[in-house]
Amino acid sequence: MNRATAIAHPNIALIKYWGKRDTALNLPAVGSISVTLDELATTTQVRFDPELSADRFVIDGVNDPLAAARASRCIDLLRFRAGTDMHAEITTGNNFPTGAGLASSASGFAALVVAADAALGLGLESPELAILARRGSGSAARSIFGGFVEMFHGEADDGSDCTAQPLLEREQWPLVVTIAIVSRDRKQVGSTVGMEHSRNTSPYYRDWVDHAHTDLDEGRRAIAERDFALLADVAEFSCLKMHALAMASRPGLVYLRGATIEAMHRVRELRHDGHGVFFTIDAGPQLKAISLPDEAALVAAALGEIHGVEEVIQVGLGQGARVVER
Ligand code: PMV
Repeated sequence: MNRATAIAHPNIALIKYWGKRDTALNLPAVGSISVTLDELATTTQVRFDPELSADRFVIDGVNDPLAAARASRCIDLLRFRAGTDMHAEITTGNNFPTGAGLASSASGFAALVVAADAALGLGLESPELAILARRGSGSAARSIFGGFVEMFHGEADDGSDCTAQPLLEREQWPLVVTIAIVSRDRKQVGSTVGMEHSRNTSPYYRDWVDHAHTDLDEGRRAIAERDFALLADVAEFSCLKMHALAMASRPGLVYLRGATIEAMHRVRELRHDGHGVFFTIDAGPQLKAISLPDEAALVAAALGEIHGVEEVIQVGLGQGARVVER
């Protein structure tokens, strides 16, 4: 009663989002396309309790007041819909490093809203859950769904059309994601602060926003046609453009480390030699190589040999966020 547990997986953007058109409602300035990952997971239990005088938030066994404030703001939206002011105890854990460019905020907020929705018995539809997850973290909207997912920029000022939708099921194109862990440190500039900094100072920001739709069109087409070469080309383009935009902020944001750059070159050499693999990198140092299933063993071995790569994790494409217990 009043309690539910949900699991959600992080997602990795192939066509990137960077920049907000509204910070209060957390509306992205551009759309994005991602793949949801298997195996890496956030598990969150939400328990509403009339006896509690405040929300309580425990992440990986530790009380975290900052994360609690962010989670509370998101849960407020669900409380409002349910017409309750009950506080909640939220217990959450990741089976992967938090805040290091592995999209823990995406899986975190997706699991949170799905668990809170079930605990309150609201029964909201997935596009609505994606809108609520987005309020916590922009990319979290995409983790509501599995496989290949598009998140819309949306037109409405209130964000009511700023949701996500699945493009292709994971079984329909079972690509493999190989993650080269370069550092487990928490990133110094989080994505929200970084995006605002780029919007305010990067001379490339306007062009980035104005041309995003062409990358989205190509990404959508590549996925619909399972055209790996086109997806590789447009995904690396989008990734490098995002980092160029961030680096051209003032002072510049450099998320890449030496080993990240070495890994980029290695992936390109492999592709040049005819192997189906490309890279993408989010606001952190880890490189994610996306490959055809047959190439996965070779890609893991190649990335594992790079000096400075601490660990290589390989996962398939995952399902959307779901309730596992109530
Ligand atoms: O979900 P946010 O608001 O923390 O931003 C994520 C930004 C990137 O991961 C760098 C790109 C993306 O589209 O996921």
